[in-house]
Order: sequence, then structure tokens, then C-alpha cells
Amino acid sequence: MRVAERGGRIAGTGRHLPDRVVTNAEMETIVETSDEWIRTRTGIRERRLAPEDVSAADMGAEAAKRAMCEANVSGDEIDLVLVSTATPDRLLPSTACDIQAILGTRNAAAYDFASACSGFLYGLSLAQAHIVAEQAETVLVICTEKMSSIVDWGDRRTSVLFGDGAGAAVVRRSDPGEGGILSSFMKSDGTLAELLYRPAGGARIPMDVAVLEERSHLVKMAGPEVFRSAVRSMCEAADEALRRAAMTSEDIDFMIPHQANMRIIDATAKYAGIPMEKVIVNVDRYGNMSSASVPVALDEARESGVLGQGSVVLMVAFGAGFTWAANVVRL
Ligand code: ACO
Repeated sequence: MRVAERGGRIAGTGRHLPDRVVTNAEMETIVETSDEWIRTRTGIRERRLAPEDVSAADMGAEAAKRAMCEANVSGDEIDLVLVSTATPDRLLPSTACDIQAILGTRNAAAYDFASACSGFLYGLSLAQAHIVAEQAETVLVICTEKMSSIVDWGDRRTSVLFGDGAGAAVVRRSDPGEGGILSSFMKSDGTLAELLYRPAGGARIPMDVAVLEERSHLVKMAGPEVFRSAVRSMCEAADEALRRAAMTSEDIDFMIPHQANMRIIDATAKYAGIPMEKVIVNVDRYGNMSSASVPVALDEARESGVLGQGSVVLMVAFGAGFTWAANVVRL
């Protein structure tokens, strides 16, 4: 039996975006930058900022509630809560357990996984694997990122790029003939970790006064090197996911790439042979929300009717680790 027939399908999606908008003009008051620089180098016009008392778990739970409502599943039906976040509320226990407590999904197992911006695509692969292994029927994949809490607001090279938000999907076992996850591809290269990382504040270099003073607990990124790897990796991931689905770019209705930089999106679409009218973009409005970018874009496109039942979507992402991944999904 083909994996897609035994595996999962996306039964509902949801998102949560904080109300507070930070425009490029406001960024000009925080660091030495300009709207023109940010727009031309990245495509970003504005991003969202979560209030101090709203956590990654809070945002993730809101996105999950909407996805569950759309999929028409109750908390008791959820077997597994998978959470991708680079900004866990605390280091122990997992944010997945915190979200489980908020949602009251008392029959579920819950765990976090860390693959940065590739999180939604890793999450779909994990959900698929648990369903195929008959460990779960209904899985919540939640990507929630309070990037404002780990960005160095004094560093113009990173602070202008990121935003806060959460996206979620309910993945359920599909019946033959229904939509499904048609192919998955995941890869990593840990030798490149230090091009995009938080050097300190973990168990190797625990948080202390020196770490705080050096601000080495915050995100550091070698932008141009990351840019080059991102384009290469997203192209490889798109190729592999299409190959594994026995499809070409002609079979794809829409592509949802990770939303780090408009120039990376353009290059990936061009390489994959997908015209920009078929590429879903939200980096202009939300910046890079790490793993939340793809599911938020997916949810918006479903809500607006751009994507409907039967649409074939190629989702592709790249992130810290480095990690990269792609999935072809029939909705
Ligand atoms: N405003 C004004 N000038 C700036 C800013 C800013 N916000 N940031 C950098 N500059 C300056 C630099 O200081 C540099 O000036 P200099 O030449 O005088 O030294 C100049 O602009 C060019 O800097 P570069 O870093 O070479 O600029 P580049 O064109 O590469 O754009 C960017 C930088 C946008 C970060 C780009 O490299 C990029 O998008 N990289 C990829 C990021 C990414 O994909 N991340 C994804 C993973 S995220 C995750 O996993 C959480």
C-alpha cells in the first residue's frame, strides 16, 4: 500500500498572530537601519510582536484550538502533540506538555522537537511516521515562535528579520482516495551549526553575568553564508520531495517556501520552475517567524480559498542546524 493511503492528511489548520505590528519605520527608531534597506534586502515591511506576558505556549495553544475547530476534533481525540519551537517557555518540561495542559488533550503524548525554521516540515514527517507506525490516529503539529525573546534588539543584522507567531495543523489518518502527505524529505548538517546559533545559555555554557553582558545567549547569524546554504538546500529539498512523490513542478498547484527572505524565495521558485503567481508569500507582513512561517502561510491560503480541497502543495524550508526539508501534500 502506498504511504499516502495509510498515512496522514491535513484535516485542519490554524494560526495566531499577535496584534502588535512593528513597521520598518519603527525599527528605524530602534537600530540604525532604513525601510529601504530592509525592503530591498529582505522583502520585509513589518512583523508582529507578542506582548511580554504572552508565551510561545499561549500562542501555540491558540493556533492549535483553531486547527482543532476546523478539523472538528475534540481534545480527547488528540493522540499526540508535537511542538516545534526555538523559543520554549522554559527548558523543562517541554512546551508541548505546557500546550497539552492548556488544551486539556488528556489522552495525548506530547513532546518538543528542535529543527528551527524547518520545523513544520519535520513535524509533518513525524506525524506521518507515527500514523504509519499505528502509534497515533490524530496528531497536532504546532509551530510556535516568540522570536522577539531571543533576538538581540541592538543588532541590526538580525533584529529586523524576525517576528512572533504560531501556526498549527491537525494531521489525521487518511482513507484511500482522500488527500494526504504524498512525500517527505528531511536532511541536516550539524557541522554548520555556528553560522546560525545561540552560543551560550544552555548546559555547555550556562547563563551567568558574563553571558548576559556579552549577549551571547541571543541569536547570532552569519547572514551571507546562511543565504547561500539556504538557496542550495531549499532547491535540493524541493527536488527530492518532487522525486519521491513521482511528480514534477507542473503537478504542483502552489509552493509554500520558508519565509526568511524574498530573495531566497525568488531563487528557490526559479530553480524549481514554479512561477511566482504560484508561490505563497507572507514575509512582507510577518518577517521570519521560524517554523511558524509555513503553517501560517498554509492557513491563510486555505482560509482565503487560494488553496482548496485537492490542491497539491510543495512546502519547503531551511533553518538553523542546518536543517532542510520539503513535503508534497494533497489537501
Ligand atoms: N540595516 C542597514 N544596514 C544593514 C542592516 C540593516 N538592518 N543589516 C546589515 N546591514 C549592513 C551590513 O552591516 C553591511 O554593511 P557593510 O558592507 O558596511 O559592512 C551591509 O548591510 C551588507 O550586509 P550583508 O550581511 O552582506 O547583507 P546581505 O545582502 O547578505 O543581507 C541578510 C543580509 C538579509 C541577513 C541576508 O544575508 C539573509 O537573508 N540571510 C539569510 C537569513 C536566513 O535565511 N535565515 C534563515 C534561517 S533563520 C532560522 O533558522 C531561525
